[in-house]
Amino acid sequence: MADNTKNVCARIGTARVLPILTLERSESALPLATALLASGLPVAEITFRSDSAADSIRIVRERIPDLLIGAGTVLSVNQVELAQRAGSQFILTPGFNPAVVEASLELGVPIFPGVNNPTDIELAMGFGLEAVKFFPAEASGGVPFLKAMSGPYPAVRFLPTGGISPENLADYLALDNVLACGGSWIADPTFIRASRYDEIARIAAEAVALSASGS
Ligand code: 3PG
Repeated sequence: MADNTKNVCARIGTARVLPILTLERSESALPLATALLASGLPVAEITFRSDSAADSIRIVRERIPDLLIGAGTVLSVNQVELAQRAGSQFILTPGFNPAVVEASLELGVPIFPGVNNPTDIELAMGFGLEAVKFFPAEASGGVPFLKAMSGPYPAVRFLPTGGISPENLADYLALDNVLACGGSWIADPTFIRASRYDEIARIAAEAVALSASGS
């Protein structure tokens, strides 16, 4: 594993929770990132589900360098390039797209492609990847799936995402092959729209407390 990837994995693994942010306006990026960091979450994913993704990533990188910031829902080589130019420190994808994986590796940006079956896991291993996103986690077998994968693939670490909530977070984090859990529940778009960063900070702090109890 490249040093850069090792370092990013270590930082995500220490955070244990990866908030997934979809920002309608890049103006929300700074207050949101500030609230997350103040609550004890030093990492976040900003998704390419909105046009403001690249600008939001750029703003956070420039203004809050202590927050490790990744680009999510990256579906094309063009978005890999946009994410890298904006300063993304890692990339996540919902599925396994070899062209996107290759482009990220060529640019030296750590990538966590989405997998939910052994075939995809082996494809990822073929690219030298040892950490992958597990998506959609709850709909794809959840905790029992991850337990089953620890047999044939003991070195692979997973970032379960999709259906993670305060109710099941600790169950996932108790597994040795889980690096961290991703989820959108921390930054609800309704709260972002209403600039309720206090409420987001409260939910983030609750996630930090839960993750400590599941470690
Ligand atoms: C993702 O973007 O990876 C998922 O949509 C997040 O899933 P969640 O909304 O269930 O947390």
